Amino acid sequence: MAIPRHIVDEVRARTDIAELIGRTVTLRRAGRSYSGLCPFHNEKSPSFSVVPDKGIFHCFGCGEGGDAFAYLMKSRGVSFYEAVKELGDAAGVVVEEKELSREERQRLERRADLYDVTEETAQFFTNTLLTAPEGAPGRDYLAKRGITVETAQKYRLGFAPESWDRLASHLQRKRIPMQMAKAARVVGQREGSDRVYDLFRNRLMFPILDDRGRVIAFGGRILPGPPDAPKADGPKYMNSPESEIYDKSKILYGLSWARLGVQRKNRVLVVEGYFDAVSLWQAGIEEVVATCGTALTAAHLSVARKLTRRVVALFDTDEAGLKAATNAMNLFLDAEMEALRLDLRPAKDPDEFIQAHGAAAFEERLSRAESLVELVISRTIAKEGNTVEGRSRAVESVLPMLRRLSRSMRTQVEAFSAQQLGMTVAELLDRIGRVDDRPQPAQSSAPPPRWVPTRELAHILWLLLHYPAQVAPVLAEADPDVLTDRRSVLQAMVELARGTPLAEVLESGRDADLARALRAIAARQAEYQEEQAQSAARSLLARLELSRVESEILTINAKIAACETSGDKSSYVSLAKEISALYVRQRQLKAVVSSRTTRASATNSP
Ligand code: UTP
Ligand code: MN
Repeated sequence: MAIPRHIVDEVRARTDIAELIGRTVTLRRAGRSYSGLCPFHNEKSPSFSVVPDKGIFHCFGCGEGGDAFAYLMKSRGVSFYEAVKELGDAAGVVVEEKELSREERQRLERRADLYDVTEETAQFFTNTLLTAPEGAPGRDYLAKRGITVETAQKYRLGFAPESWDRLASHLQRKRIPMQMAKAARVVGQREGSDRVYDLFRNRLMFPILDDRGRVIAFGGRILPGPPDAPKADGPKYMNSPESEIYDKSKILYGLSWARLGVQRKNRVLVVEGYFDAVSLWQAGIEEVVATCGTALTAAHLSVARKLTRRVVALFDTDEAGLKAATNAMNLFLDAEMEALRLDLRPAKDPDEFIQAHGAAAFEERLSRAESLVELVISRTIAKEGNTVEGRSRAVESVLPMLRRLSRSMRTQVEAFSAQQLGMTVAELLDRIGRVDDRPQPAQSSAPPPRWVPTRELAHILWLLLHYPAQVAPVLAEADPDVLTDRRSVLQAMVELARGTPLAEVLESGRDADLARALRAIAARQAEYQEEQAQSAARSLLARLELSRVESEILTINAKIAACETSGDKSSYVSLAKEISALYVRQRQLKAVVSSRTTRASATNSP
């Protein structure tokens, strides 16, 4: 399966990589490029760069990088073809279907069919809720819960009518095969029966979307019947079972609407209920997501940490709540995320709180949210009892947690724990063990040696990347040996000099060290101005040549000294000639080097 090169290049050229990555990573503009926290490794200060005009991203921390396709492949595990196809679709470039391998085509088609079913289903529920006569109970219930029509539309809420086959017959009318409807988990079929039935009946429907905004599953709340009616059918909330397109451990409900809010407030609120998420969002607390009827997982956190490191969670105050908080605590520590625990008592949940007290009161509670690790510690200590043995047991059970704290959190939490345990910090540290004994992240095997360009070569490459037209003629006159002895570098330089976009050069090359170096160079801030590019390149070349000339001078001087002792007159004469030529060249080069400032000063004149 090979997609024609010109198609790949066109899709890449039409894709705004900063916009693409910005959907999942909080990016801040920094000159020509953007920076943010690397989604591919744990870090606290941003070393991840996106350079839109070069079409690349690069992490100075972990070395990960590449073009828009590489980003999708690495962040979502899709194939190269799928990445090109997805971005091609978005950019309006037709990516030839016939280039697909059979399995890939089948898998893609099947997934596309499933998305069609869930989308059609979502529209059916939405239309029912908003306009159909049988949607009236849903509309009444929403109104009773204080959710406006605008909010319902935003979240694409819907209503599944009280019926065994309304949805199934609707899908049939839309020519959707019942096999697909079953695979999408919106209808069921009893064994031995040839009739399918709607899975969701008499429920307010919450469609669950993936990170591309496609409907992949549903949660449905049963409507309360009149008080004297027989007990309603099934559990209060029914969720789609997992399917080929839905993995609930990875999905945070509401993330597509919360994303901007999370980035702006630099925190994410994780609640338990669909209603809580919708209700908070409506009240203006936009940075809210919900788990879909599961406990928080590491996968949830890895989705969230691409946007923020601060999580605000709600945990019950009972024993089960403590256990859930402790479990979650370990996930937060693993993900190096900071967790706060929000206490809304006596309200039962965020929805109840916000409906009763409003956003300002909610924000006020948020500002008093406690550190989760401190909460777990103080609860554990309280549980063990304030006796000598109790405190000793408490120390033992909180030590593993303290040992895993990141540097930034350690000091504060240690002081807190010591105080709770009635010890001095020194005593506590003594119990924790010396800092140096703490296990370090696996770094035992030395990284393989890697090639890095000299400073001068890196500067020349930077100039070539940004001003190929100015710099190419200078390089054309240069002695390639002066530049580098690495062939792949020279090849890349030839391509860049021709004006080939960097992402294409990176794709065709096989030298991983060079690729990393080029991305890092491209992600660097502007160092020169256009007018200076040519002279800067000349000066850098002169520097490179100068250092070569100077080392030759040393060598020849040593040879001359040897001739003086051996008395080899003829060699001496030719060496003397050679060295005086070198001295001439050295003077010329020094003049070139010193006549220019290679670096643009911070305050550039126009
Ligand atoms: P709650 O029972 O706390 O309900 O469930 P809620 O969100 O406050 O709902 P309202 O306000 O009564 O309408 C919290 C979450 O737990 C999952 C759902 O995801 C729900 O939003 N849940 C609950 C289920 O999956 N099944 C259930 O039967 C109940
Ligand atoms: Mn509730």
